[in-house]
Amino acid sequence: MEHDRVAALRAGEVPGHGRRPTYRLVAIPGDGIGPEVIAAGRRVLDAAASRFGFGLAWHELVVGGAAIDAYGVPIRDGDLDACREADAVYLGAVGGPRWDDPNAAVRPEQALFALRGGLELFANLRPVTVEPALVDASTLRPEVLHGVDVLIVRELTGGLYFGRPSEERQTPEGRVAVDTLWYTEQEIRRVVRLAFELARGRRKRLTSVDKANVLASSRLWRKVVDEVAPEFPDVAFEHRLVDATAMLLIREPAAFDVVVTENLFGDILSDEAAMLTGSLGMLPSASVGSRRTAHGLHGLYEPIHGSAPGIAGQDRANPIAAILSGAMLLRWSLGRGDAAEAIESAVRAALRDGFRTPDLARVGAGERDLRVLGTRAFTDAVVARLDGAADHEKEMAMASAAGLAASGGSGR
Ligand code: IPM
Ligand code: MG
Repeated sequence: MEHDRVAALRAGEVPGHGRRPTYRLVAIPGDGIGPEVIAAGRRVLDAAASRFGFGLAWHELVVGGAAIDAYGVPIRDGDLDACREADAVYLGAVGGPRWDDPNAAVRPEQALFALRGGLELFANLRPVTVEPALVDASTLRPEVLHGVDVLIVRELTGGLYFGRPSEERQTPEGRVAVDTLWYTEQEIRRVVRLAFELARGRRKRLTSVDKANVLASSRLWRKVVDEVAPEFPDVAFEHRLVDATAMLLIREPAAFDVVVTENLFGDILSDEAAMLTGSLGMLPSASVGSRRTAHGLHGLYEPIHGSAPGIAGQDRANPIAAILSGAMLLRWSLGRGDAAEAIESAVRAALRDGFRTPDLARVGAGERDLRVLGTRAFTDAVVARLDGAADHEKEMAMASAAGLAASGGSGR
């Protein structure tokens, strides 16, 4: 009997719930606004799970600056194994001024690199779409934003972030510092191939971004792209230099479909691209490699924004990037595209209904009634739409009572 129960649990069945599958997730809230946005995302994921009839078993880890404070290291032995054993990892953000001393031997960000490298998550997918309701929140003109739908595929376990040596040295002439941009052709090929595959499932256009007029690593990158391309005759690809790409992303962002690039270039271009959406607080990401679980790709999901220490603990953080990262987790690692879509629609509906977090409430934007909500209240609005229980009037009244309503009710 006991044996049967254990076997059933292993198969993902929860007693009393019949064949209700339960997925195992690791949550890493991290530092700054990380804990707030992960709490928001977990509420939305749990609501989606109960609506779609599956379970989420969470295991929380202390990683990053919080771990340096508690244990003296940014990530502990065993944490990586816990992440590996889970179906997916859900991370907020790490870092902050408290651990920013340039002479410090340990830094919170080292935990991120240990996770990305240790779990072999070589591709970081950063989708950039412009929500029509938020066109006014962007600093760019509306006509430039029409039809923007870019997927940035950032190489995540090589390039300048991982090349060795990476250090400062004392020489008789003074201090020197070195970082190394190093790529093997295998590292380039696997991420480029994934990018071609993703382009094949979209509008079939791929832009490979490099600095081949200067860097040897970029010239190897180009050769490998040219070698992989014949496997994907249905995908139109182009090479572009990173500086020109930075310019074009602002001039004509709708021209891009999938963009694949080196680690640091991808870091920079994705923050730039985030501004198309109105706020850095909008962009989710999925980091994946080649490992599969029973349900999908093993992966780590995190907003692209940082720990934003300046607004931490004030209930002001935009939880959308974290919530949408949760949707990506459902889709890519758990095979729950149904629940992922429901979450994405609920976020869209909350925005369409005029709810905003402070970062999205640009003064002078739009003619409609906007209500500026804190992290928790905005998450309430998303959960209510997920459950089909949104009561717009009541929400507006609550927002006003909380003193967070945009002045004058017009968003101006
Ligand atoms: C990101 C972040 C990180 C990175 C930082 C926090 C180390 O900017 O995920 O884009 O540079 O990869
Ligand atoms: Mg970044």
